[in-house]
Order: sequence, then C-alpha cells, then structure tokens
Amino acid sequence: MSLRARANGWFERRYPMRAIREGLAHQMHKLLPPHVSWLHTLGGLLLFLAAQQILTGILLMVYYRPTTEDAYESVRFLMLKASFGWLIRGLHAWGATLMIAVLVLHMLRVFIMGAYKRPRELTWVGGVLIFFTTLGFGFTGYLLPWNQLSYWATTVGTEVAASIPGIGRSLGVLMRGGEAVGQETLARFYTMHVVVLPWVLVFLMIMHIVMIRTQNLAPLEAVGEERPLDPRTAVSFAPQHTSRELVVFPLFFALMIAVVILFPPEIGVKADPTVTPEGIKPEWYFLPTYQLLKYLPKLLGLGLSAIPPLLLLLWPFLDRSRARRPSQRKLSVTIGLGALLLTVLLGLVGYLSESEITLFGKHIRFDMYGVPEVVPAGR
Ligand code: HEM
Repeated sequence: MSLRARANGWFERRYPMRAIREGLAHQMHKLLPPHVSWLHTLGGLLLFLAAQQILTGILLMVYYRPTTEDAYESVRFLMLKASFGWLIRGLHAWGATLMIAVLVLHMLRVFIMGAYKRPRELTWVGGVLIFFTTLGFGFTGYLLPWNQLSYWATTVGTEVAASIPGIGRSLGVLMRGGEAVGQETLARFYTMHVVVLPWVLVFLMIMHIVMIRTQNLAPLEAVGEERPLDPRTAVSFAPQHTSRELVVFPLFFALMIAVVILFPPEIGVKADPTVTPEGIKPEWYFLPTYQLLKYLPKLLGLGLSAIPPLLLLLWPFLDRSRARRPSQRKLSVTIGLGALLLTVLLGLVGYLSESEITLFGKHIRFDMYGVPEVVPAGR
C-alpha cells in the first residue's frame, strides 16, 4: 500500500474525510430551478461580504484601542501610518454600507419572486433577523472611531431608545452604561460589535444556508404545484451557478477597492462631549426612521416605527396566497414596492433636512422637516 493510501486510511479512521468529501460533491452537483439567474448571486455575494467584514474586522482589531483616550488616535494611526490600514478600514467601512445595500436587494429579489412562501417561511424570518443583526453592527460600529459625528449620533440614537415609555430609561442606561455616552458605552458597543453580534450572525447564516440547501431554491410555480426539476432545463449549482458567482465576486471586490480609493472613510474630529455639532445625522440606513420620528409625537412615532419591522418579520404568515409569480401577486408586490419607495423617500428627505444645496443657481435651505426654502441672494 502506498504511503498516501496509508496516510488517508489513518485519517479516515479518526475523521470522516470521505463522508465530508461525498457530502460536498453531492452539494456541488445539485440542480437549481431553471429561472435561477444572476439575481440569485446576491445571496452568495452576502456570504462573501460577511467573510470580508470578519477578516478586515480582525485586522482592524490589531491596532484599534477601545478607550475614549486612544480610540480616535488608533483610527488615525490606522488611516495615516499603518501599512494598508487605509485599505483595511476603507473596505470595512464601505463593506458595512454595501452589505446593507446588497441585503436590501437580496430581500427584494426573494420578495418579488415569492420565494418566502411555504416551506421557506423560516428562511425569510431568519433572514430578517440577519438584517436586524447587520443594522446592529452598523449602530455599534459607528461609535468606535470616537469622533464628533459618531459620538453625537450615538447620543441621539440611544436617546431614541431611552424615550420608549416604561422600559426606556433602563434601556438607555443599559446601552450607555450610565446617563451619558462615555467609556462604558464604548466598552459595551465594542463588545457587542466584535463578540456578540459576530456569533449571532454566524449562527443565523449557518441556519440560513442549511435551510436553503435542504429546501433548494424556490421554483416560480405556485405553492403545491411544484414539479420535479427536469435535468435538461435546470441550472447546475456547479459549474453554471458557481461560475456566475466567480464573475460577480471579483468584479464587486474590484469596484469596492475603487470606491475606497476614491472616497476613503473620514477620520473626522475627536469626540468632544462639551461641543454639540450642527446637523447630526445617523448613517443612511437609519435616516428613514430618524426622519419619521421628527414628524410625530414621541409615543406615536415610536409605536409606528415598530410596525414595519414587525410586518417584515411576519410577512410570510400574513401573505397566504399560493402564487409566486409577481404577475399573479399584484397586490403584494405593490405593497412591497410602495413600502420601499416610501422608505427611500423618507431617507432622502432625512438626508436633505437641515442642509443647504445650490440647484440651477438657486440657494435652497431645508429645515429639520425637509421643507425647502429659497434663500435670497446675499443672505
Ligand atoms: C448575510 C446575509 C445573508 C446571506 C449570506 C444569505 C445567503 C443566501 C443564499 C446564498 C441564498 C441562495 C442564493 C440566492 O437566493 O441568492 C439565499 C436565499 C434566500 N434568502 Fe438569503 N442571505 C442573507 C440574508 C437574507 C435576508 C435578509 C433575507 C430575508 C429577509 C433572506 C431570505 C432568503 C430566502 C427566503 C431565500 C430562499 C430563496 C429561494 O428559495 O429562492 N436572506 N440567501
């Protein structure tokens, strides 16, 4: 017997190498429904982005110091002195924003194709939990550079939580570790960001992938009318689907590097709890909620802003129709796209609020509600 065969045998008796190899080969040869297209690479792209966030996050931890004295300087050092620090931080910061954008696109794809229907309700619910977890990464990560913007955006964000009737005050103290944002807050946010949320995300992602691989991707036929896949029209996972992914991932990565070079994330000015800057705004993905809260009395606003996440989570149990094709689900597709449009509009108004722009030679100022006012020349 050759040395290689003996070594293989030795491992095989101690670890189920063959079973794992066969399991992987079985997964690679799976057939997917015939409509599976480039749009279905968004899920794989999210896996790629999550891996990139974890890897760049670990590299950032080498230099980052989670204390109010050193955090800002350590980020400055990363951006200006550490080898490729600007690239690692740029990929991590842009990766966070792009991951949320790709998450929205992936959810939209699943929603429009009715792929959340029986028996994939829990795949959707788990996905929504992944979405909330990713927003949690955004919220906790934003504070870490400890600059003016991050300090004051976190102050405003935690104030929103603290204004919830009943539990609000305790929730605010729990999040901040005290009455104001400070060292305790930074320690809590850092722990959430680098330990708690990554474990939650990895667990949810594993559940997600296991469900997708066991149920396979949803066909376009209505619930209960699914037909077995025909090998002549089906798409093979490998090489057909994987070769699309192998085009999308490097292209996306190259695009990200270009974006990082052209628009590096800012370092800003070190946080100063005694100076409140003007026009503090959260990251773009929190802008719609932030803007909505401005229009309504506190209690009503908080109550109303809890409804869309709940609807999103429970949607597969609310939409009981069997059809999957979007053309046969006009009401549900209109509700979904309408809600998305409204969210984008609110975000846009939030972005413009408390700012000034020049349009066609006219100077326009937007108040906190996003109402525009033309500023006369000379003022
Ligand atoms: C890190 C986040 C996520 C990762 C890595 C991920 C990964 C994937 C992958 C690889 C697929 C199969 C290919 C594809 O459909 O694109 C998939 C399908 C699916 N995902 Fe996600 N996903 C994520 C987030 C979400 C979210 C936020 C939702 C919904 C709220 C969701 C719901 C679903 C559903 C229902 C399917 C099955 C689609 C079908 O059968 O056609 N996923 N996901």
